Formats: sequence, C-alpha cells, structure tokens
Amino acid sequence: MKKIMSSGVVGLDEILGGGFVCPSTILIAGGVGTGKTTLVLQSLFNAARNKEQCLFIASVSEPVTSINNYLASFSFFDPDCKNMHFVDAGELLMEKKDVFGIIEENIESIKPDRVVIDSFLSFAGRNKDALHALFAYVKRKNLQLFLTDVFSEETLNEHYIASLVDGVIFLSMEEGRRWIKVLKLRGQDISIKRHAFKFSTAGIEVFPKLKLELEAKVSGKKISLGIKGIGQILGEGVLEGSAILVAGEIGAGKSLAGFHFINEGAKEGEKSLFISLDENLATVSRNAKRFGFDAKSLVDKGLVSALYAPVVDLVPDEHMVKLKEALEGVNRLVINGVSSYQSAFDSMWEYKNFLLTLISLCKSKGITSVFTTDTNPGEYYPAEIAHLMDGIIILSSAEEMGVRRRYIEAIKMRGSPYTTGKKLMDMTPRGLEISP
Ligand SMILES: Nc1ncnc2c1ncn2[C@@H]1O[C@H](COP(=O)(O)OP(=O)(O)OP(=O)(O)O)[C@@H](O)[C@H]1O
Ligand SMILES: [Mg+2]
Repeated sequence: MKKIMSSGVVGLDEILGGGFVCPSTILIAGGVGTGKTTLVLQSLFNAARNKEQCLFIASVSEPVTSINNYLASFSFFDPDCKNMHFVDAGELLMEKKDVFGIIEENIESIKPDRVVIDSFLSFAGRNKDALHALFAYVKRKNLQLFLTDVFSEETLNEHYIASLVDGVIFLSMEEGRRWIKVLKLRGQDISIKRHAFKFSTAGIEVFPKLKLELEAKVSGKKISLGIKGIGQILGEGVLEGSAILVAGEIGAGKSLAGFHFINEGAKEGEKSLFISLDENLATVSRNAKRFGFDAKSLVDKGLVSALYAPVVDLVPDEHMVKLKEALEGVNRLVINGVSSYQSAFDSMWEYKNFLLTLISLCKSKGITSVFTTDTNPGEYYPAEIAHLMDGIIILSSAEEMGVRRRYIEAIKMRGSPYTTGKKLMDMTPRGLEISP
C-alpha cells in the first residue's frame, strides 16, 4: 500500500489528491517572493510537531539566521522544536566543503523523514551527477525530499530537473493575487487547476477551487418568499432548492424582498444566511428595521447568520470556502447585490462559473436561494446570469399622473406555475405588499 504524507499546509492536500506519496522528490518552483520557503518550512514545522524528524538545508541567499527572523511572525514556528534540524549549505560552500557528503552525513545521523534543500540550484544545480546520486540516496532511505528554486513556467519546462522529480508545485503572483498549481505528481490524482492561496499568521492557506455539485436534492416542497400577496403570482411559493433572481432598479425593494424571504423562513424555524456585498451589516440591519425586520433578534436566536464580503479584497475561491462552511445547516440563502461579484473576476466566464458552482452547492443541500441585483436604466434583467437561475422576479416602477407606482412580476419559474403580468405593489412600513 502506498504511504501518503500530509503536506501540513491547509487546503494543499486536497489539490494533491490527498498528499505526497512517500518517498518522493518534490520541486516547489515559482517566481521570486512567491512563498516557496514559507511553504516548505510550514510543511516541516507541522510535520516536526507530529513527531517527524525534519532537516532543512539553507542556501547562500537565505541563511538560517535570516530565516529564523522571518519565521517569527508565523504561528507554526517553534524555535525550541527538537525535531527540526538546520544546516547552512552556504557556509559549507564558502569553506569549499563537500556539501553533498555533509548532507548525507546529516541524514545518517538525524534520520529525517523530510528533507528540504532551499534553494537547490545555487549548489546542487551545477553538479547534475551529485544531484542524481542524492535522489537515488534519498529514495533508498525512504525520505521525502523537497527542493525549491526560482523558475518561470517556461524555464521550468526546459530544465532537466522537471523530468527528474516526482512532483512539481508552482507558485505565482498575478494581478495582485497569489496562485498555486500542481504541475505534476506521480501516482496521485491531482487537480490541474490553479488555486488561490494567501499568507496569514498560520502561514500559507490554500483555497481549493470548489467542484460543481452534480447531485441535487430534489423535492416538490414549496417555499414561500414571504411578501404579502405574492401567492397571487406564485401560489404556494417556489420549489425548494430553487435559485431566484430578484432584479430591479435602485430603490426598487430588492433587499426588502430578501428580508421577507429570511423572515418567512425564521417563522418556520428555518435558518438563513445573508451575504451583503455592498453594504456593511450595521447599515443593512438599520435599513431592515425601518420595515419592521429585527435582524439582531433573528441573529441572537441563531436563525440568521450574516456576512459582509466587500468585493474590493475578495478572493473568490477563499470566499467560496467560507460560504460552504457558512451554508452548513442553512435552509435559505440571500446574496444581496450579486452583480458586485463580477468585478472580482477577470472574465465573465469565471464569474458565471462561480455562480454556477454556488447554485449547484445550494441545490445539493436543498437550500433555496435569492440573488438580488440592480439593473441599469432600461435593462429588464442581467441577461448574462439570468439563464443560471430557476426563477426571475422583476421589481419595477413607473410614473403615472405624477405618482410613482411600484410593480412586481415573475417572468420565469422553472417547474412551477405562476401568473404572468405586472402586479401593483406598495412599499409600506411593514415591507412590500402586493395589491389584491
Ligand atoms: N504574513 C504575510 N502576509 C503577506 N505576505 C507575506 C507574509 N509573509 C510573507 N509574505 C510574502 O511572502 C514573500 C516571501 O515569502 P518566501 O520567502 O516564502 O518566498 P520565496 O518564494 O521563498 O522567495 P525567494 O524567491 O526570495 O526565495 C514576501 O515577499 C512577502 O510578500
Ligand atoms: Mg526562498
């Protein structure tokens, strides 16, 4: 049976197909300052905490003293860890000593489970034969070996090391985001997508891209949206697990529709998650109160949880991981201002994939969701995401003889009958009310 070794980095094992097959030789490659040293040290310290013996061989550019200073800001760092062993290869090189010989001596005496050479090209790269011999030696000794160095994807593909090692993990920075990609890993079913990661006090945290859920929890149960009089349009409600888009101009009452939906769930003891993309939660709560919705009391009772996710710093894959956790035990989801997500993506394709994955996640759990969105003047609904939704409700208004009248209309409702045409609607201190 193959032995799998955890990387010791949150989220990384998942994209590695479980972890590293041991023994293997893994190259951690990437641009300068992408996090190569942090990743391997985090792996070693977390393994050392789990009683593994670990050996770190530092090169000229980053001697052990400077590494120790840098590590102090990370929680995985333990300066007193007895299972961590450091060797300064830079010093040995300057003294013209036999670096490979000394590495082997250290391996013989320490008997490590994991060895890191950071970064290997400065000395090992020049001596291909010695590196081959070292690889054969660590395999015989059943050791997990990690090498790091600076490469671009192009230079890596042309370098002999890429075919020599069992696995390659590639780190990069693009458009102010950090990415990790497994380029190869012999013997493991890896994810070949690029995944987001970030630095925190815990070190590197990887956010594996969520897969589309192919199974949906289907029932014939109807879920009421909670707006007074909406039965005239939707009967008993929308099908459980549906994704409903509520579109309308600014001030049309879209957030209010979201509050009604949550409040109706709370009456039945159902839990809701409210995601606000544009407004902080204090503002949302104050606005809800104006219409008689006591958000605080619902939160205190554990019926509503709310998350403010300003899109400025949003890392979509990280956000999705948080959403998945927050959706545990939830029956209803409201995403208020869904179109704001769009600016967090480089392309419409990525934005739509994100929404599709989120909707599939909700469907797999039988969660009914309401996505509210602004429309531009003259626009009926955002066509680019409308096809992802099971139902669309339009809130609109028109001026008639000096009076602004509000309307509500369903224009699509998969799997359940609905009444077509605009219905007159009022915005009252009790929220939205549809006229009989
Ligand atoms: N707590 C932190 N928060 C944000 N970024 C951090 C944090 N700690 C480190 N970094 C970033 O990580 C980078 C250094 O990480 P690390 O030394 O692991 O990278 P590297 O790939 O080994 O770099 P080099 O190419 O110099 O060897 C820094 O440039 C810094 O931007
Ligand atoms: Mg480094």
